[in-house]
Amino acid sequence: MRELLRPVIVAPMAGGPSTPELVSGAAEAGAVGFLAAGYLAPATVESQVRSVSASGHPYGLNVFVPAPRPADVPALERYREVLRAEAERYEVDLPALRLDDDDHFAAKVELAVTYRVPMVSFTFGVPDRSVIRALRAAGCATLVTVTSADEARRALAAGPDALIAQAGTAGGHSATTSPAHHRGKTRAKDILAAVRATTALPVIVAGGVASAPDVGSLLAEGAAAVQCGTAFLLADEAATRAPHRAAITSGAYRETVVTRAFTGQPARALRNRFTDAYSAVAPVGYPAVHHLTAPIRAAAARRGDAGALNLWAGTGHAHTRPGPVATLIANLLAEPR
Ligand SMILES: Cc1cc2nc3c(=O)[nH]c(=O)nc-3n(C[C@H](O)[C@H](O)[C@H](O)COP(=O)(O)O)c2cc1C
Repeated sequence: MRELLRPVIVAPMAGGPSTPELVSGAAEAGAVGFLAAGYLAPATVESQVRSVSASGHPYGLNVFVPAPRPADVPALERYREVLRAEAERYEVDLPALRLDDDDHFAAKVELAVTYRVPMVSFTFGVPDRSVIRALRAAGCATLVTVTSADEARRALAAGPDALIAQAGTAGGHSATTSPAHHRGKTRAKDILAAVRATTALPVIVAGGVASAPDVGSLLAEGAAAVQCGTAFLLADEAATRAPHRAAITSGAYRETVVTRAFTGQPARALRNRFTDAYSAVAPVGYPAVHHLTAPIRAAAARRGDAGALNLWAGTGHAHTRPGPVATLIANLLAEPR
């Protein structure tokens, strides 16, 4: 496992930013990148995997674990009513509740097996032992994302090769399996120590890391690697949507908040009109809320209106710079002067 890792991991970023070019560029620059299978059709994942595996570099694929949590349908219906005003504003129809989406989990795992993807990481939960065993038999190393020592212990019972300790400072969705209680307060250093105390396996740390000194100190504290997402949102090779890029570079968004407003799973995003209006009332309920708000977000994106977009970003967002992924990696690895 350790031989596949590099000090910096370019995080999987579903919803656009992750591309085969970003992952291959990361490998060429001495880091390791993960493709993001989340939301994509299996055929798209397959073509991305083929493209990156042709390079021969180590890389990873990230897969969402379907949530076993029962949905609170009345709460979701109430949120649907609350969102009517947004649907009118953006002239879209609100879809009926959709509760049954497993994001093609089995097909995505099967692709990883078929193409012997070197590393497969999971978020939103722990895959069955049988999934980890099948991947191992195919030669794939497995990593499970956790946000607490308790989650680490549950993940270890499934037999993965490594854990990803995700802090509350991280941009995008939290992997938490307790979405009603997630406040996003943990810092990288603390979650690294808490998760390392549960295992001798490699622990990769993620969340709010934006500079070479941060990377250096987390490696010194025993991280097997540091996984960064927000630091690569403006990479030339990333397919981050234009309004998301513009929001990060504008300097107009100074704060991040943890919100379930967009998807029903806590996620850290730049604070905007939508997070202000709905964070207090949005229920737990991924992926139902994701599907409910999707037409609103799509319409907002078409209008270039960042006010209703999920502007995922970690607490280090103010340090995010544009440029080739190789330069951004070099900045994160720079020796102190
Ligand atoms: C835009 C965006 C999309 C993300 N998508 C995923 C994903 O698909 N799967 C995943 O495991 N983590 C995802 N993450 C979380 C990252 O894996 C990582 O935990 C996070 O980026 C680290 O915090 P940072 O953004 O402050 O560097 C995403 C993060 C961002 C910013």
